[in-house]
Amino acid sequence: MGKIIAIANQKGGVGKTTTAVNLAASIAAAEHSTLLVDTDPQANATSGLGFDSKSQHKTTYEVLIGSISATETVLTSSMPFLSLIPSHINLVGAEIEMVNEPDREQHMRTALSPLRSSFEYIIIDCPPSLGLLTLNALTAADSVLIPVQCEYYALEGLGKLLNTINIVKKNLNPQLDIEGVLMTMYDSRLRLSNQIVEEVKKYFQEKVFSTIIARNVRLSEAPSFGKPILLYDALSSGTRNYMELAREVLQRNKQSSSEPTTRHTSSPNAPQPIPPSTPTLPSESGKIA
Ligand SMILES: Nc1ncnc2c1ncn2[C@@H]1O[C@H](COP(=O)(O)OP(=O)(O)O)[C@@H](O)[C@H]1O
Ligand SMILES: [Mg+2]
Repeated sequence: MGKIIAIANQKGGVGKTTTAVNLAASIAAAEHSTLLVDTDPQANATSGLGFDSKSQHKTTYEVLIGSISATETVLTSSMPFLSLIPSHINLVGAEIEMVNEPDREQHMRTALSPLRSSFEYIIIDCPPSLGLLTLNALTAADSVLIPVQCEYYALEGLGKLLNTINIVKKNLNPQLDIEGVLMTMYDSRLRLSNQIVEEVKKYFQEKVFSTIIARNVRLSEAPSFGKPILLYDALSSGTRNYMELAREVLQRNKQSSSEPTTRHTSSPNAPQPIPPSTPTLPSESGKIA
């Protein structure tokens, strides 16, 4: 049974798509069959793997509105163990079309469930919102990976995301776990980057991945060539960082699958609630929590 990991954070530009594409490619490079599902109408993960987001492929849109089975939309990529369900701008319409349906949050879970037996990992790239598309991804997922950008307001908005995750756990998907919090766009020259990592670790403790994704211009160039970083520049720090992240994810899941009783229960080291303000990071009380 494949594991479904949603990459979510309602903030835009924190590295969700970069992480979804490159984590999926790095897990695939380790010869685990992996499916990347693009649920963002902007379709950046689709074009990031070299597919034309304007072409006539069947996409996440058709899957969500139930007009086609997910299996029929799967595209094979240039990497042997990596496949894609592409997105298209018309996915914005799916939210509106599903809104009055009683099971509107469950469409993706139902659609992806037959694919669990074909893939070891299914990685979902979420849009930058907590709307119906992200709710569908969180309801379908076993766990959520949260990229957090190393910037001044890193913690802002995370309370709202955790709150949404808890609501989904309570009402739609009790199994949903936090896979981990990933620090992205780290700049070792900035003291602030270190402070932010420490601050985030205070709240998320061992949920923060040991792997930190450094800022690397090659990571921002690769999508315009339609390639994951490891095919674009195998020797870059971006490739090193995402391969290391893949190893960490694979290791964590190897451990948790051998300890089935601990995986879906709440751990004593579960993330602490984020207080309205933090000692070193200025934050607007209304925006966190
Ligand atoms: N580690 C990194 N180093 C340099 N640029 C990055 C890095 N991660 C992401 N970027 C760039 O930052 C921008 C936002 O990243 P993206 O993954 O699209 O975020 P999101 O999906 O959360 O909106 C993109 O232009 C991307 O290429
Ligand atoms: Mg994105």
